[in-house]
Amino acid sequence: MIRLSDYVVSPYLIDTVDILISLHPTQTRVRVQSLMRPNPTRIPGIVPLHLDGDELTLVSIAIDGRALAADTYRTSADALILKEPPQQPFSLVIETVIDPTANSKLMGLYRSNGVYCTQCEADGFRRISYFLDRPDVMATYRVRLEADRKDTPVLLANGNLVEQGNGPGPDQHYAIWDDPHPKPCYLFAAVGGDLGHISDHFVTSEGRNVALGIYVEKGKEDQTYYAMDALKRSMRWDETAFGLAYDLDVFNIVAVSDFNMGAMENKGLNIFNDKYVLASSETATDSDYALIEAIIAHEYFHNWTGNRITCRDWFQLCLKEGLTVFRDQEFSSDMRSRAVKRIMDVKELRSRQFVEDAGPLAHPVRPNAYREINNFYTATVYEKGAEVIRMLKLILGEVDFSTGMNLYFTRHDGHAATIEQFIACFAQTSGRDLTHFSQWYDQAGTPTVTVSRLYDANTKMWSLTFSQQTPPTPGQKIKKPQVIPIAMGFVKAAPGSDPIQSSSNQTTLFILDEVEKTFSIADHDASAVPSLFREFSAPVNVQLNLTPTELLTLAQHDPDPFNRWQSLQTLAMQTLQQSTIALKNGQSAHADHALAKAIQNLLAAGEKDPAFTALAVTMPSEQDIAREMMSNIDPSAIFFARKTLRKSIASHCFDTASILYEKLESSSDYAPDAHSAGKRALRNAALELIIIADVEKGGHAANNQFTTANNMTDRFAALASLVYSGSALRENALSHFEDRYKDNPLVMDKWFALQSAIPEPETLKRVQNLMKHPAFSLTNPNRARSLLGGFAMSNPTQFNRADGAGYRFIGDIIIAIDKKNPQVSARITTAFRSWRTLETGRQTKAQQALLTMSEHKDLSRDLRDIVDRMLT
Ligand code: TRP
Ligand code: ZN
Repeated sequence: MIRLSDYVVSPYLIDTVDILISLHPTQTRVRVQSLMRPNPTRIPGIVPLHLDGDELTLVSIAIDGRALAADTYRTSADALILKEPPQQPFSLVIETVIDPTANSKLMGLYRSNGVYCTQCEADGFRRISYFLDRPDVMATYRVRLEADRKDTPVLLANGNLVEQGNGPGPDQHYAIWDDPHPKPCYLFAAVGGDLGHISDHFVTSEGRNVALGIYVEKGKEDQTYYAMDALKRSMRWDETAFGLAYDLDVFNIVAVSDFNMGAMENKGLNIFNDKYVLASSETATDSDYALIEAIIAHEYFHNWTGNRITCRDWFQLCLKEGLTVFRDQEFSSDMRSRAVKRIMDVKELRSRQFVEDAGPLAHPVRPNAYREINNFYTATVYEKGAEVIRMLKLILGEVDFSTGMNLYFTRHDGHAATIEQFIACFAQTSGRDLTHFSQWYDQAGTPTVTVSRLYDANTKMWSLTFSQQTPPTPGQKIKKPQVIPIAMGFVKAAPGSDPIQSSSNQTTLFILDEVEKTFSIADHDASAVPSLFREFSAPVNVQLNLTPTELLTLAQHDPDPFNRWQSLQTLAMQTLQQSTIALKNGQSAHADHALAKAIQNLLAAGEKDPAFTALAVTMPSEQDIAREMMSNIDPSAIFFARKTLRKSIASHCFDTASILYEKLESSSDYAPDAHSAGKRALRNAALELIIIADVEKGGHAANNQFTTANNMTDRFAALASLVYSGSALRENALSHFEDRYKDNPLVMDKWFALQSAIPEPETLKRVQNLMKHPAFSLTNPNRARSLLGGFAMSNPTQFNRADGAGYRFIGDIIIAIDKKNPQVSARITTAFRSWRTLETGRQTKAQQALLTMSEHKDLSRDLRDIVDRMLT
C-alpha cells in the first residue's frame, strides 16, 4: 500500500536524459543516459539509488563511463538498486532490451497494428528502462530513434525535430527529437510506423508558428480533419479563456487502435485511441464528434495543466485531471450549448461518479492510499475533481478565480505541485480562508442536502432550512459537513406572458457550511417555487418535497435550463420509483398523465431548442432509477416500470411526435455542428417515441430512415430503435449493418455494443456467439469494452440475470482478459460495484462470482485490488 503521508522527496534528481531507442519488433534496444545528482533538499546521508523497473532485460550499466562491478548494484523483479551512488553529479548509462510485440498490457513500448507506440502514464516508463519513475523527478529529454527505413518510415518523439538521416545500418534511418521543457518520465513518448498524416499550422498569440500533424494508419487521413479543426479551436480558446499559449514549434497527434484509455497528453506528442480521432459522416455519430472535440481539447489543455505544471505525486492526480476536465467542459460549453453541455455532464457525473461514491470503490477526489494507481483514474478523480473546481469558481466569482489561476500558472510553472499549493493561490488572491472548502478533496461520499421551507405571511419572508449529511464510505465512517454552494432563485408562473422570461431571473448564492443552516429571503409571494442548485451548483443529492404541480411550474417557467430539465426528471423519477415498488408488490405499473402532457407540450415547441428538448423528453435510465432507489434493487421491476411509463408517454405523444418527425426531415448535407446535431437528436427522440407507441408504423419509419440515412447518427439511431423495440425488422437491419461495416472496427464496436445491451434473456447467448465473430478480439480494449463492457455496464436486466449466469460469464471473461491486460480486466470488474444494493438473491450470486474471481491465485495487482475492495 502506498500512502500520501509517506511522501518523501527523491534522494536523487535527474537534469537531462539522452535516450537511444533502436526499434525492433521483439528486441528493441534502449540506452538511457541520465545526468543525475543528489537532491540538495533530501534528508542528509548516503542512501541507495532505487530505480524502478518492470519486465526489463538489463544489458549493461555504467557510471561516468565505467561499467559497474557486479557487487555495487542488484536487480529484482521491480527494481535496480545502486548501493552507494556518487554524491556529486554523475552520468548513469543503462542499456536494456524489451519486446514490444509481447507487450499485451499496452503500457511502456508496444506495437499496435504494426505501429510502435508508448504509454508511460502512470508508471509505464519503468517498462522501457530502469528509472526514477515518479512525477516529481523532472528532466529535459533528447531522443534518438532508429528503425528500419521501409517498415518504419515515420519516427516521432516529444519536442522539436532536430536532425534526421540514414543509418546506422544500411536499411535504417534515424530521427533526433529534443524537448527543452523539463518533464517527468510519464510524459515521455515515442512512435514509429508506416503512418499517413495531415499537416496544418497555427500561429500563437505570442507569434510562434506551430507545425501541426495528425498521424494515422495509411488510408485514414481523410478522417482526421475534424480532429485538426478541434485542435486549432482548442489552441485559440486556451489563449483567450486562460491566456495560455502553446510553447513548442511542433504539435503532433498519433491515433492507434490498441489503447487502454481515451488518450494521453505526452508533451508535444499526444497519443490517442483512434476512436477519439477518426470521424466521417459515414462512420461517426454526433456524439462521437462531440467526444473527439472534447478529448482533443482535454489532451491539448494538459499542456499547461499537467505538463508545464505537473503533479508532485500520484495522489495529486486530480490537480491535473479535475482541472483539465473543468477546462474541457468550459471549452465545449463555449463551442456548443452551455445548458445542454451542463445537463449531459451532470447525467454522466450521476451515473458514473455518484454510483462509484456510493459503493465499495468510493474514495476521496484526492485518495490518501492506493495499491495500484491505474485503478484511480476514476470518475471521482476526473469528474468530481472538475465539480470541485466549478464550485471554487462559483464561490470566488469570475475575477478572483481568474487571478488565482494566473498566480498558479506563474508561481508553479515548471514544477510538480500539490493540491495545497493550488488552493493557496486562490486563498491568497481572494483573501479567503479555503481550509474548509479543501475538505472536498479529502472526504469521499456524496452529501445529501435536505431542504424544508416555511413562508411567513406577516413578514413576507421565506425561510429555507438546509441540512446536509454524507453517508459513510470505506475507511471514512464519520463525515464532517462540506462547504456547499447553493445557487437559487424563486419562480413564479405569470399566466399569459412568455413562460420563461416572465419569472424573475435573479439567482442568489447561499453557502451551506454547517450541518444545518436557515436562510431568509424577503419579497416573494407564498406561491413562489424555489429553484435550488441552479446549473447544478454542487455535486450533491437534493431532497426537497416539491409537489408535481410545482415541478411542472419549474419545468415550464424556470429561467435556469438545467432546472427546467431537472424538474421533469424528478417528476418522472417519482412515478418510476412508485411504479417499481408497486410491481415488486405484485401490483401494476404506473403511468403519469401530467408528465405525458408536459412532454407533449415540449415536443410541440421542440424546434425552438432541439438539443434541449431531446434531453428533456428522455426518461431517466434504468441505472438512474436503481441509483435513486439505493437498495433492494430488482432490475426487472425497474425495467418494466420504465417500459410502462415510456409506453404511456409515447402513446400520448404519438401524433405530436409524428408531426415533429416529419418537420425535422434532415437536410441533404451532413454537418456535425451542435445545432444540426440537436435537430437530429430531437428527430431521433421522436422516432423512438413513435416506435414505442406503434412498433409497426414506427418500425416502418425506422427501417426507412435506416436505409436512406446519409450519416451514421441517423442510421445508427434507426438501427437502435429497431433493435430495442423488438421490431420484426431488427435481425435483417443488423445483418445489413454488419455487411456494410464489417471491415471498420470502430463501427463494428457500435454494432457489438448495441446487441450486448438488448434486454432479453437470449442476449447472453448472443454475446457469447458474437465473441466468435471475426471482427471481435478479446485483446483489443475497444472491442472488449464494446461487447463485454457493454453487456456488464449497459444491460442491467441481463448482466443481473436472476440465475447469476450474467455474473459468471463476465467473471470468467475477466479472468481471461487479466492474463493479457490487467487495466482492462480491472475496469470491466467495476461493473460489479453496486452489487450490495441488489435484492438478496442477486446479491448472493454476484458475491459468489466475485469470490470465485478472488480465489484465483495469480490475479494481476490491478484486478486483485478491485476485487478485494469490492468484497470488503
Ligand atoms: N492522462 C490521460 C488523460 O486523462 C489518461 C491516460 C491515458 C491514462 N492513458 C492512460 C492513465 C493509461 C493510466 C493509464 O488524459
Ligand atoms: Zn487527462
